[in-house]
Amino acid sequence: MSDIVTVENLSKTYDGGFQALKNTSLSIRQGEILALLGPNGAGKTTLISTICGITAPTAGHIQVGGHDVVTDWRAARKLIGLVPQEINLEPFELLINTVRFSRGLFGQPPNAAFIEKILEDLSLADKKNARIAELSGGMKRRVLIAKALAHEPRVLFLDEPTAGVDVELRRDMWQLVERLRADGVTIILTTHYIEEAEAIADRIGVIRKGEILLVEEKTKLMQRMGKKTLKIELRAPIDAPPDALSEFDLSLADGGQALIYSYDAAGERTGITRLLASLQSCGLAMADLQTSQSSLEDIFVDLVQESAA
Ligand SMILES: Nc1ncnc2c1ncn2[C@@H]1O[C@H](COP(=O)(O)OP(=O)(O)OP(=O)(O)O)[C@@H](O)[C@H]1O
Ligand SMILES: [Mg+2]
Repeated sequence: MSDIVTVENLSKTYDGGFQALKNTSLSIRQGEILALLGPNGAGKTTLISTICGITAPTAGHIQVGGHDVVTDWRAARKLIGLVPQEINLEPFELLINTVRFSRGLFGQPPNAAFIEKILEDLSLADKKNARIAELSGGMKRRVLIAKALAHEPRVLFLDEPTAGVDVELRRDMWQLVERLRADGVTIILTTHYIEEAEAIADRIGVIRKGEILLVEEKTKLMQRMGKKTLKIELRAPIDAPPDALSEFDLSLADGGQALIYSYDAAGERTGITRLLASLQSCGLAMADLQTSQSSLEDIFVDLVQESAA
């Protein structure tokens, strides 16, 4: 797959002297969904704003669809839809005009049917003649999405699109994202709801303190970093795992009524058969067994903590 966005050695130091991005490079593939995860202040919004040509880079180069975002801004920007983290709408404007205006701004001819369709998809059609100030917070967030889509962008940036959006709407929004992806739109999103990234993204990028720690296929990342656990419920509680089992990574749970065995999900051998045999020879009887796999959230927390150490 070819790259639609390339970021090379990008640094950003804000006027006050704070360095928000440090020599960052990133390639975004045409048609993929990339989720950028990172703690508050990591530099996610700065990265997105710089790619969209809203924030000037201090050093480095960015291309979108082959256009340099600084020297060829209009051509690059026409390809980009941006749903910003902050709501920045004109309160007295009518919803429909806000969305129409955005289409014209990026050089697209009027298309009333297309605009109507977007408003339908985002459940905004019945509010189209309302003023922005008359909308709820979640509706305003949907207007931001409608605006971003109005000029039919090929690359869509969603900076925390689901913050403050209710569960049902969030589901609708992810369905919309899936449809856009099916149309070949490349999607870059940030979210603090990591289970959303886990559900929807092809690749995951993790940013911390202005540096990209990794960008990797979600499935590979989860295989590589994911831990599996086996919970062994015992027939009778114990005070501590027996010394004879010290070679296994075991901890006690449920007040001594269960043992938790952690093992490497990517490893060839799990050690489970050997563990179960050893349990028997220690005279521990099992009541039940359960396995579980760590989520992307567990992996993310581990990654961010590890790099802080
Ligand atoms: N205009 C600005 N002037 C000075 N510093 C800024 C400016 N915008 C952002 N920063 C700083 O840059 C760092 C990165 O901010 P950024 O908004 O990119 O983080 P983020 O990863 O999007 O965080 P969040 O998850 O909270 O949205 C922060 O320390 C922030 O204070
Ligand atoms: Mg942000």
